[in-house]
Amino acid sequence: MILLLGASGYMGQAFATELRRRRYSFIPLTRKAIDYTDFDLLFDYIRKLKPEFIINAAGYPGRPNVDACETAREETLFANTLLPQTISRACSMTSTPWGHISSGCIYRGAKWIDDPGTRIVEGPELRRLFAASPEKVFGYTEWDEPNFSFRNAPCNFYSGTKALAEEAIRGAGEVYLWRPGMPFNGRSEPRNFLWRIQNYARVFDGVNSLSQLDDFVRACLDLWERQAPFGIYNMTNPGAVSTRQVIEMVERILKPNRRFEFWENEEEFYRHGAKAPRSNCVLDVSKLLVAGIKMRPVEEALEDSLRNWNVAALRADNSTARNVPSFSS
Ligand SMILES: NC(=O)c1ccc[n+]([C@@H]2O[C@H](COP(=O)([O-])OP(=O)(O)OC[C@H]3O[C@@H](n4cnc5c(N)ncnc54)[C@H](OP(=O)(O)O)[C@@H]3O)[C@@H](O)[C@H]2O)c1
Repeated sequence: MILLLGASGYMGQAFATELRRRRYSFIPLTRKAIDYTDFDLLFDYIRKLKPEFIINAAGYPGRPNVDACETAREETLFANTLLPQTISRACSMTSTPWGHISSGCIYRGAKWIDDPGTRIVEGPELRRLFAASPEKVFGYTEWDEPNFSFRNAPCNFYSGTKALAEEAIRGAGEVYLWRPGMPFNGRSEPRNFLWRIQNYARVFDGVNSLSQLDDFVRACLDLWERQAPFGIYNMTNPGAVSTRQVIEMVERILKPNRRFEFWENEEEFYRHGAKAPRSNCVLDVSKLLVAGIKMRPVEEALEDSLRNWNVAALRADNSTARNVPSFSS
């Protein structure tokens, strides 16, 4: 039996779909059914249910976007840092292995490896170098200290709380810390990176690693199924793309009835288009590959999602919040 926390959310629903596809017995828990953010309730629930694995897909990424976390600070800190700590404690005390959705957005930029060595590049310089010599642009590994965090400011409040959670729970018990990039797939919904860039008035051109959502959840579950060592894993589709390249793919494949405009530069974007700084980063997935988990190259995953845009009907997770055993102490 697997316990899925945050099952009603964007990531949680994707996990529920994949668990169902694999015919796992699982409980998709929501706070409405049981307030799993309360340590005593959660501990008691886990102690009685004895799940073989817990997935934490709960958190607060901001609605409609990360800017909302700048004002909803209490909720952001509570959901992204304190809740993982609570789950970590309950899992350690019950010896329950678990997985937590962290984020790649605790980094900014990428590594530029060229004579005479390695340096961090970001912003317009990264865009220029990536366009000219993408083979010299490398991602951050799990051993690199987050550089978009409270410890390495500036960062946005959301990223700060995600990096703090990693610091608090890594190494405590049997836990996977799964780091996705911006998620996308073929379903037209506002959390999907491909939906977002098609619906912005103007697009910001960053260089990023991305995660095809269904590939991501499959890879997370594969790590656990194959009993890969616990720890932090970058979980993006291999490679990196600029948003301009993705827009070109959208234009080529979907042939939308509009012209896309880009922000002139960072200054204009942050003056008119965004409140909080954005991470825009490239991740290295060698550790995942060494663990035997293969995700499709990002270009292939993007092409596939766009070719199947909206073909797959929106998932209706009808079983969410049903059949939730309620233990009273
Ligand atoms: N979406 C992204 O672009 C993205 C990218 C990278 C990482 N992540 C991470 O993935 C996790 C899930 O994100 P998501 O996009 O699926 O978010 P979401 O759609 O907003 O869902 C998150 C779920 O968390 C639960 N939750 C528990 N405590 C909460 C609180 N205090 N405030 C708000 N929600 C709370 C809610 O479920 P119930 O109330 O029903 O239990 C909610 O449905 C987060 O940790 C996020 O940082 C997301």
